[in-house]
Amino acid sequence: MLEITFNLREDGKVPYYVQLYRHIRQEIKSRHIPSGTRLPAIRRLSEHLRISRNTVETAYLQLISEGYVESRPRSGLYVVELEEDFSLSEEQAKQTVKRKVAADLKPKSPNIPEVRCDFRHGTNDLRHFPFSVWNRLTCQTMQEHSSLLSFYGDPQGELSFRIQLAQYLRQSRGVHCSPEQIIVGAGTQQLLLLLCQLLGTERQSVAVEEPGYNGAKAVFAQLKFQITPIPLDEDGINLEFLQRSGAKLVYITPSHQFPFGMILPIQKRLKLLQWAAENKGLIIEDDYDSEFRYQGRPIPALQGLDTRGSVIYMGTFSKSLSSAIRVSYMVLPEPLLEIFREIKILLEPTASLIHTDTLEQFMVEGWWEKHLRRMKNIYQKKHAHLLSLIVHYLGARVRVIGQYSGLHIVLEVLNGHSESELIRKAIENGVKVYSTTPYWINPDLESPPRILLGFAKLSEIEMEDGIRLLQEAWA
Ligand SMILES: Cc1ncc(COP(=O)(O)O)c(C=O)c1O
Repeated sequence: MLEITFNLREDGKVPYYVQLYRHIRQEIKSRHIPSGTRLPAIRRLSEHLRISRNTVETAYLQLISEGYVESRPRSGLYVVELEEDFSLSEEQAKQTVKRKVAADLKPKSPNIPEVRCDFRHGTNDLRHFPFSVWNRLTCQTMQEHSSLLSFYGDPQGELSFRIQLAQYLRQSRGVHCSPEQIIVGAGTQQLLLLLCQLLGTERQSVAVEEPGYNGAKAVFAQLKFQITPIPLDEDGINLEFLQRSGAKLVYITPSHQFPFGMILPIQKRLKLLQWAAENKGLIIEDDYDSEFRYQGRPIPALQGLDTRGSVIYMGTFSKSLSSAIRVSYMVLPEPLLEIFREIKILLEPTASLIHTDTLEQFMVEGWWEKHLRRMKNIYQKKHAHLLSLIVHYLGARVRVIGQYSGLHIVLEVLNGHSESELIRKAIENGVKVYSTTPYWINPDLESPPRILLGFAKLSEIEMEDGIRLLQEAWA
């Protein structure tokens, strides 16, 4: 049985998974590991090298994605047959690897150092994506439901998929809706565009959280809506400002405010619904990542409290499954549904029927529930680990904003540097962190800078690397 043993550098300059991936790649290219060899199981190798399973898994995924290794169902990972130009002499292979490694490590320009950790927001941890199940179900869709493939599908999304979705939304998010109220689309922005069309010219102004999701504001701005920013209190949108704004439409992220992460408490939710009732207002509730709440009871969607049809509920599979799948949905109250029915004939679906049918089977067979539970555990551990790293390495120089939910955190940095200085210093030390300024209409120049850190894709080791680099950069 193949063993992999080599010297792991522990100086922190190159992450372990990169070292492991490069070592195996070199061994394959130089044919020390011949084609057809089965790689050691993740657990065995992680125990052998005393590194985490995530590290081994990430290295393996990289080898798969570059075509050195393939996964054989229920059997393991095998080294593939290399093409001719890979069959270099050992010396040639070493030279090629050296050149490639050097190129990989070389800064793209003298001023841009290698990125060793990227806290990018909007990513997923695909190391835990059930690829084999998804592939099987996609094949099933292509074969057993092949009759579907010559159609565009229902502009609203297939009814059978919407039935699954309605059941999930009720059970998991407390959303009260029938499958007929759900519109499936390829992303929140696409659905917002459609929604604005349904709202028509009457509601040409919209109130938004300040700061708030720029993707939504971009849609409103493109459609020439007048956008009114409403400041946030510690517990979410300031309702007095909303009242005074005279707006009749508000876009809001009550279950995990984007980007600051606070949760709108029940009293404020009820008051917001009262505002809608008194002002003939409409609330667009974007529930984008609410599956991931790590402390306390789950907070049901605002839509579930609404008895007057004032809430348009929006959600997405981008956080919980993969942003590349592009399946999102909205739930329309009856009056808007009537307008939708009138124009439905003119529309084609935007989400792929192949993906939604696969997702439907994924839900029917119970994989979705399992996957969600698994990802919640994984993200919860990552979230807790990130918080402990922040306390350990950054201590009192920062304050974490947000409430134990979602796939990102916001750091308020109290060392006197500006936001752009903090980001520049981080990049110079090989770590990418992100500005929250784009989420403001009128950026807040008074408060200490707030920096956005996404963590979904990073392993615990990568996060530790990243926070340590931030400590050095911001010292
Ligand atoms: C608040 C909010 N809503 C929606 C989305 C994206 O949704 P989708 O992928 O469905 O377009 C994001 C993405 O980061 C987001 O931050």
